[in-house]
Amino acid sequence: MLKALSQFMAMLVSADSRYDKYVRGETGGTLNPDEITGLELFKIKCAACHATDLFTDQSFRNNGILNDFSNDAGRNEVSTFPDDIGKFAVPSLRNVQKTAPYMHNGKFPTLESVLEHYTSGVKDSPTLDPLLKQNGQLGIALTESEKKQIISFLKTLTDEAFIRDTRFQKN
Ligand code: HEC
Repeated sequence: MLKALSQFMAMLVSADSRYDKYVRGETGGTLNPDEITGLELFKIKCAACHATDLFTDQSFRNNGILNDFSNDAGRNEVSTFPDDIGKFAVPSLRNVQKTAPYMHNGKFPTLESVLEHYTSGVKDSPTLDPLLKQNGQLGIALTESEKKQIISFLKTLTDEAFIRDTRFQKN
């Protein structure tokens, strides 16, 4: 069963979004000015955790969505290390436009509410990632238009060919 599952999962490769075409310089790979600014902002503000073209550094981190982890301890439930309390897998953001609700507990219904979280909703706790508490300030500073530009960029990660692949559709 493990072999079958891993073989199936290894088939699930999404690498044909407009962003991918842009990176590879292919036809259809055009990003508009807002999307390009969004990409630049993303690299500065988000890519430390949502890193590489997988958009995850494959680590576990506390991004401040909770400050009481008594019923939801995250990686600590597996590792038992106190330092892992409140840390959750950094997810890929490929096709993120299509995967609401967001976070491990589905806390946010929209990408707008996710960006709102990062700018003004980050909760402090002992394991909060230092990237979200720089110079004693909680969260990531972004203007309203910067948030919109980041969301425009995130939508370029939608891979229609992947989503519509009939091999992965239920009968
Ligand atoms: C300190 C590391 C870190 C930084 C910086 C960070 N994120 Fe995250 N992000 C996470 C973690 C960890 C999760 C998953 C939390 C969970 O599941 O509860 C997450 C989840 C998300 C999700 C939800 C994905 C899903 O499928 O549920 C989105 C969207 C997202 N981040 C976008 C961003 C954007 C945009 C930025 C920059 C403004 C950003 N992140 C900055 C660590 C980070």
